[in-house]
Amino acid sequence: MTFSYSTQVAEGIDLIIPCSKNKLDKVLNSIQLKDPNFEGDFGTFITHYNSEVNKTYLLGIGEDKHLPKIEEAFRSFAFETKKYWSTKIQIDVNGLDASAIVKAALGLGLAEYNIGKHKTEAPAESDVEVIFVCENDVTALIDEGYETAKTVNSIKSLVDAPPNVKTPEYLGKWAQHSAEKYNYTCKVLDEARLNDLGFKALLAVGQASVNRPVGIVTEYTPKPNDAVDLAIVGKGITFDSGGLSIKPSTNLHYMKSDMGGASVVLGFVELVAKLKLNINVVGIVVSAENAVGSNAYRPGDVIGSHAGKSIEIIDTDAEGRLGLADGLSYVIDEYNPKNLIDIATLTGSVVRTFGYSAAGLFTNNTDLANAMESAGHKVNERVWRLPLWEDYEEDLHSDVADIRNFSGKPIAGAINAAKFLEAFTKNHNSWAHLDNAGVAFGSSKYAKLKSATGYGIQLLTTFVKDYYKL
Ligand code: BES
Ligand code: ZN
Ligand code: ZN
Repeated sequence: MTFSYSTQVAEGIDLIIPCSKNKLDKVLNSIQLKDPNFEGDFGTFITHYNSEVNKTYLLGIGEDKHLPKIEEAFRSFAFETKKYWSTKIQIDVNGLDASAIVKAALGLGLAEYNIGKHKTEAPAESDVEVIFVCENDVTALIDEGYETAKTVNSIKSLVDAPPNVKTPEYLGKWAQHSAEKYNYTCKVLDEARLNDLGFKALLAVGQASVNRPVGIVTEYTPKPNDAVDLAIVGKGITFDSGGLSIKPSTNLHYMKSDMGGASVVLGFVELVAKLKLNINVVGIVVSAENAVGSNAYRPGDVIGSHAGKSIEIIDTDAEGRLGLADGLSYVIDEYNPKNLIDIATLTGSVVRTFGYSAAGLFTNNTDLANAMESAGHKVNERVWRLPLWEDYEEDLHSDVADIRNFSGKPIAGAINAAKFLEAFTKNHNSWAHLDNAGVAFGSSKYAKLKSATGYGIQLLTTFVKDYYKL
């Protein structure tokens, strides 16, 4: 897809007119259409034929309450009708405000996502030109939307990729390639380096797999003399079998999505660099495969960690928090960031709590919580806060080590996981943890089985723009 912009509707090219419910009459009058059997409901569309342009599609964008997910209307429309488009199509965006124009380009770009990368017959790539018609120059808005779409599509590809392909090393290569392309830095810490640096917990998780753990450190620092504004750490378990505390086999293949925090970190840093946002960010991915093998770490083991704390392993399926503990401790020591976020598909408990409708948010900073909540509502990638009360601390007490990785009780699982992470944040005063286990991967009308959602990229970019007033 390529985009261009024009001030006038051209004759002979199919036209898309987005219609909100409250502006419907105006649009119908302008194209002299009566009783069209179309109310502008969100995501609906009709096709109208007239002489000036070949075909006019009226696309319903619903009401104000639909604005946070308006890109979805464009995406599903493009997904269904693309096959009928010729080489050019125009879209009249005069009725949309700036943020809706960004979202229109985003939605059209998201419709290009191809989940069937591993089919032997590749689907034909479309090379359609989309002309945005507007009185004002909207080139920058289109760019922002389409660049966001391309990043979201590529991180969805990572999450949907098979776990034999997307090894920890592969994630490192992805990041290096992205960093070269978009001018930021990337270091991949291999096993030997992780060992030197003391990532003992991450190495324990990955010790049974031939696909060795890596750490990925990306930096985008447009203000080289300033402090790091934000560090973000992501869980990159490329496959979570549960380890010796093995998971049941039903739906086990979905555990390829257990790097759905890492993918957000990789995509977020890429997009911040692409959009040249004036903020110093560091992105860290802690990646390993939680495999079963004769060298696997065991329940009962006591392992070390980057922070120097010893950890008693109760359940090898509570592996994400171990890698993250090292990532958090490392990034605090190395970068002393002003704000610190981690994102991880950490617990089944958060899925039981919020279903597929929100990520769990845990933070010791209420300003951060408010800014995240409001960003989440704006882009329909919601977060909801859960507590970090002291009451939960005793559940992680260990008789033999400094802490244990699981309470052993079937209650408050997401909170306990967050409390475990908190123990490795060295009293950082502005830390937030997002448990995106329910929202990273899910059902959609675009695939028969569950697939990646891309959740988090819009949330975090909107959050940083608002919070840092960029
Ligand atoms: N990767 C899982 C969490 C998960 C569950 C992600 C469902 C996506 C969908 C995590 O490593 C895990 O296994 N958590 C266990 C922890 C328990 C053993 C303490 C859980 O939540 O059941
Ligand atoms: Zn697990
Ligand atoms: Zn996991």
